[in-house]
Amino acid sequence: KKILYVASECTPFFKSGGLADVIGSLPQYLNKTKKCDVRVILPLYKQLKEEYRAQLKEVMIYDTQVGWREQYTGIYEMEYNGVHYYFVDNEYYFNRESLYGYIDDGERFIYFSSAVIEFIYRGDFKPDVLHGHDWQAATAVALCNIKKPVEGIRTIFTIHNILYQGWLMHSAFEELLNIDRIHFAGFEWEGMLNLMKAGIFHADKITTVSPTYAEEIKSDYYGEGLQWMLQLRSPDLIGIVNGIDVDDYNPMKDSNLQVNYKTSIPKKRENKKSLQQELGLSVDSNVPMFSIITRMVEQKGLHLVMAVLEEFIQQNVQIVVLGNGLYEFESYFNYLANKYPDKVHVTIGFNEGFSRKIYAASDFFIMPSLFEPCGLSQLIALQYKAIPIVRETGGLKDTVVPFDIYNGVGTGFTFVNYNAHELLDKLNEALRVYHNTESYKVLIKNISKANNSWAKSANQYLEIY
Ligand code: GLC
Repeated sequence: KKILYVASECTPFFKSGGLADVIGSLPQYLNKTKKCDVRVILPLYKQLKEEYRAQLKEVMIYDTQVGWREQYTGIYEMEYNGVHYYFVDNEYYFNRESLYGYIDDGERFIYFSSAVIEFIYRGDFKPDVLHGHDWQAATAVALCNIKKPVEGIRTIFTIHNILYQGWLMHSAFEELLNIDRIHFAGFEWEGMLNLMKAGIFHADKITTVSPTYAEEIKSDYYGEGLQWMLQLRSPDLIGIVNGIDVDDYNPMKDSNLQVNYKTSIPKKRENKKSLQQELGLSVDSNVPMFSIITRMVEQKGLHLVMAVLEEFIQQNVQIVVLGNGLYEFESYFNYLANKYPDKVHVTIGFNEGFSRKIYAASDFFIMPSLFEPCGLSQLIALQYKAIPIVRETGGLKDTVVPFDIYNGVGTGFTFVNYNAHELLDKLNEALRVYHNTESYKVLIKNISKANNSWAKSANQYLEIY
């Protein structure tokens, strides 16, 4: 089977969140099975590093129709780790300071999607399946179903986060799309055009990134207004949990770490000591260290953290935070770090290597999300034996098994309600288990057996293809 992934970001080229990690690892894994040829098409943003840019080969140049305008389109190609990547070049749309956040984002990704359909028409690569990811690629799914650029082509649409849908005014239908008015209804939703809705409406199959989230988004609380659409398409909606590249996220090989380890707690604690030194925290490898690595947005449950963390840290614990986002959260963490300099360290920003040092150093990882389609950080935390403390929602519920101290099963600490005191309860429980050597060992052993690779989920994707 030939499959074309359409997406707006992909590691190692462009990343704003977990979507990039999935697009950067799932196709590689699938191609290694030799059961399919997955290729990926992306916008050619300004952010592509020179080392990759130097490898690009021109494939073709054509014009893409965007309403009454013709827009230049250059297609470039490169191979990387067993996957063909195509890049759509148009400087007006993609030569900008950041990936997203522009007033014309809707137009930019309608252009991108239209260029992809034109690319398929032209036939350099004729996929059996077009697999679009999130709202930025939803128009490609819709246009593919409407225009059938290759006979018999089928479509899959994957929802990584239903919060971001791609809303435009009705007038955009005439101005940006070149399809018959009869298709208006597929794009229309509550007085606007809604690109994600069009993807859900047109796709042959819809997937999302965990079974629990697949159920949740059919409800009013999580559906972000699209719950009725998803209820309607329920027979074709499947939840498949994300994996991570376990060769890459591997504490035995990770060169960012002070000491490599597999399950050895003393070795893991060497990493804690070295991070304490580096960050100016009090140096003591027995102090339990809790970390938070996240985009600082409401989704990640930081309001719960803000309500109880200061109370919690009155005990003998340390907190390490890395991430950026909303001012409200950044300034809260800065306040804590200033007030408790030998207990709390905060870095506003993101750095991949540094994040891995934190995963390796910390004993616990806090992720109490309000909602979480899948979540990858808790999987990385499990790889590095940082015990996750999560809220039971979406993929967090599907990937972290609550630890039961009496029968010794489970891989982390979980709570149900979006309630700060439930979080505080779990933080304290985690602390008790940390100081109970026997239970702690059992928990680490369970985590060592957890499998977070793509193996199982890749098979589920193959089945759908
Ligand atoms: C989005 C979701 C996250 C998910 C990722 C990859 O970033 O918020 O939960 O893991 O997409 O699917």
